[in-house]
This record gives sequence, structure tokens and C-alpha cells, in this order.
Amino acid sequence: MTSAEETTATMPNLQNKDADWNAFDPEGYFQHYYGDPHPDDDALTYLAARALRSAASPYRPLDIVDVGTGPSLIPLLAALPVASRLTAWEYAKPNLEWLANELTAPALRPQWQHFWQRVKAAHNLDGANASPTLPHDPLPLLVQSTRLLRGSIFDLPPRTFDAATMFFCAESITASTEEFQSAVSAYIETVRPGGLIAAAFLAGSTGYDVSGRRYPAVAIDTDDIAACLIPRVAALELTPIGLSSTEIRSGYSGALFVTGRIAG
Ligand SMILES: C[S@@+](CC[C@H](N)C(=O)[O-])C[C@H]1O[C@@H](n2cnc3c(N)ncnc32)[C@H](O)[C@@H]1O
Repeated sequence: MTSAEETTATMPNLQNKDADWNAFDPEGYFQHYYGDPHPDDDALTYLAARALRSAASPYRPLDIVDVGTGPSLIPLLAALPVASRLTAWEYAKPNLEWLANELTAPALRPQWQHFWQRVKAAHNLDGANASPTLPHDPLPLLVQSTRLLRGSIFDLPPRTFDAATMFFCAESITASTEEFQSAVSAYIETVRPGGLIAAAFLAGSTGYDVSGRRYPAVAIDTDDIAACLIPRVAALELTPIGLSSTEIRSGYSGALFVTGRIAG
């Protein structure tokens, strides 16, 4: 047993404040989870882009927040075609610095170009409403639209955004069920009534390693998600992605994609 495993084993209720987010290694995380794009992430990218597209009109683009952005551009890219403004709401300083570097790089990494193709596919579903104007290179528009904010999920402003994305955050920042539920509540409440959520959750994970350091998670299933969301989210759609009995990446053995509208 490594010292990281010992920590988790002896602190099964590890809370958000107990994990060392300042020591999070964004490049190690990126390489492990997104260095070699996985079909599950293709599916999540497509589903998120399609959900966001359904909530927008060409005349009224959306003010969208992504919560716990971390070292990933996937939710920002999925939201980009319908966003008037994108806010990356992230807690860990190393991840904010890493995101700033991604946005000031001369070119997007090939992995992000790969996921951008999935976004474009989701926006060209039918001839009548196709979006042929999406650029080949989304980086200039991404830079123009995105602001990076340091903040905790627990401090999100209520009833503020038209839509909110969240990939692997509420269940992947704590081992406490109560804290997970509070995080989901804060996420839902930051969206104005009638607005949209599009979120991905780890299925059944008890934690994950980033460059040898252990981070907590709450093991959840579709019933747990539904219990949190059904009272407050209308037209809820829940899609299991790639559920497996073995780990595909550290702490990852499938995902649950959720979308719906915030009840008034
Ligand atoms: C498992 S990573 C997910 C990163 C990315 N969204 C993805 O899809 O790969 C969890 C993210 O939540 C962030 N985080 C940790 N505590 C947080 C908090 N209290 N509020 C918001 N984000 C937090 C971490 O820094 C990290 O970026």
C-alpha cells in the first residue's frame, strides 16, 4: 500500500479542504486522462454540445459557467458555439495557471482539436439548423469568450448563469456524501430558473491518483444522481457512458451524463 492509499484508507471521509489542491499536477492529469482521447470523452463532448445547442437560439447566446474546469477544455469547447460568455470557475491555482497557458498558447493541442470536431458534429445535426460557420480553429473565439475565475463550487453565486457545465467535479473533490450533495446543490442553484445543466459524473469511483497523489471521490450511481436532481431539475436525461467493471483510467470506470432544465 502506498502512502497515498494509506491516507485514503485511514480518512474515508476526506473532505474537500483536506485534499492538497495546490499540489495538483495539471499536466500529469491532462496526459493521463486526455493525452490519448477516449471514446467515452468523445461521447460526453457530443452530448454536452448537443444539450447546450438545444438551449440556445442564434439571437440569444448564453452566459455559461463551467465548474471545476481543471486541466480540460472539453466543456468550454462544447459550450463555445452558443456562449455569449464563458466562465471557468476553478479552485486550484495550478489548474488556473495551466488553463491560462492553454489559452495563450500559439495553437490548440491536437487533443483539443480532436474534441472540437465532436462539438462541430453536434452542431451540424440537421440541414435546417446546421451551423456551418463554426471555425476550423476555435482558439481565437475561445480566448475572446473565456474568463478564468478562482472560486469554490460552494461559493457560486445563485441564479446567475443561463447554463452550467460541470465535468467530474462535485463527486471528485470530496469523499463526503454530504459535501457532494452540497456541491450539487450549489451547482444547480447557480443557474437561473429555466436554465440548463449539462454535467458528467464519475460512476462508482472512490478516488483517483494524479502524479502519485491521491484525490477523493464519492462513489455514486444513477440513483444517487437522480435523488439529488429530480426535485429541482425538469426534463432530466441521464445517460450512462461506458460503465465497466474495471478501471479504464485511474478512478474512472465509466461516467454518468446528465442534462435538464432548472425548475422555476
Ligand atoms: C477530477 S478534476 C476534473 C477536472 C475537469 N473538469 C475534467 O473534466 O477533467 C476535479 C476538479 O475540481 C477542482 N476543485 C477542487 N475543489 C474544488 C472546489 N471546492 N470548487 C471548485 N472546483 C474544485 C479541482 O481543482 C479539479 O480541477
